[in-house]
Amino acid sequence: MAYRIALNFEDGATRFIDCNAGETVLDAAFRQKVNLPMDCSDGVCGTCKCRCEAGAYDLGDDYIDEALTADEAGEGLVLTCQMQVSSDCVIAVPVPASACKVRPAEYGGTVTHVDLVSDGTIILNLRPDDPAALAFLPGQYVNLTVPGTGETRSYSFSSKPGADEASFLIRNVPGGRMSEWLTTRAEPGARMTFVGPQGSFFLRDVDRPTVLLAGGTGLAPILSMLEVLADEADEVDQPIHLIYGVSRDGDIVETDRIAALAARLPTMSWEVCVSDPQSAQPLKGHVTDFLTDEHLNAGECDIYLCGPPPMVEAVRVFLRERGVDPRHFHYEKFAPTETAITAVAA
Ligand code: FES
Repeated sequence: MAYRIALNFEDGATRFIDCNAGETVLDAAFRQKVNLPMDCSDGVCGTCKCRCEAGAYDLGDDYIDEALTADEAGEGLVLTCQMQVSSDCVIAVPVPASACKVRPAEYGGTVTHVDLVSDGTIILNLRPDDPAALAFLPGQYVNLTVPGTGETRSYSFSSKPGADEASFLIRNVPGGRMSEWLTTRAEPGARMTFVGPQGSFFLRDVDRPTVLLAGGTGLAPILSMLEVLADEADEVDQPIHLIYGVSRDGDIVETDRIAALAARLPTMSWEVCVSDPQSAQPLKGHVTDFLTDEHLNAGECDIYLCGPPPMVEAVRVFLRERGVDPRHFHYEKFAPTETAITAVAA
């Protein structure tokens, strides 16, 4: 039996490998030409130390304390030269991908649908040339090339891994190269290329109440996470609460899809808020206005936040002022222009 291992490198690049039952992660990586950090290969030096972010595994008892202490093991640190997995896993590798001879994967796809669903939002669907080869973690992004240019833009998948079509929720930026191409020239059948996956903003195991905060098109990676959670609804026994915030009523998109996800995921609740005081929506304000003590659960919660930098900062300040230190706080910022994405886990 083989399991899927996502190796998430320090620079956010991610490479998927297969690992057979009884095989160490280090051996599996080498077999697939990924040179993970190592020295002794025998549980002595600690050079291969990584962090397991999700999944089940066994480290055996053939390594020494100088290589990995009991406290480190208890925190999820692992020695890949000893680690044998018993489920799919996500492993954070504390070096850049290039240090392990991992090059970014390139993909091609065909546009199947492009739609300006609001003044500020474009939905793009692509059919990858080889859907089975396109692996990513829910929440991650890729760098799409603007056709006819050498320029790339970073966009998170709003679709789940393994879907026949990859979808994206793209902010329509006036004067932006990608926005201009999508709104004036893109049509079904057009070819696009992209590189990735990328980013440390991805869904981990849901072990405690989870709060999802989405600002504008920051909804995209959250939708991808919810798609996966809805597929696994039988195993999700923790409350999942989404607060989706936008500036104006016209910016609200994908609510039918959110409602359909909530119908499949019994522990999920959600609300939309609009910061425009003239909004016709019942909830007027910012996402922090609707974050309650119940959601925050005295800090025993995981928070995933994707939005523009001011929103990320507002949530950080809100948590600090409320004295709430969430167990995990994963956030991703996207800049107001068509530029890069920054993902952080704390
Ligand atoms: Fe030395 Fe794993 S390579 S402990």
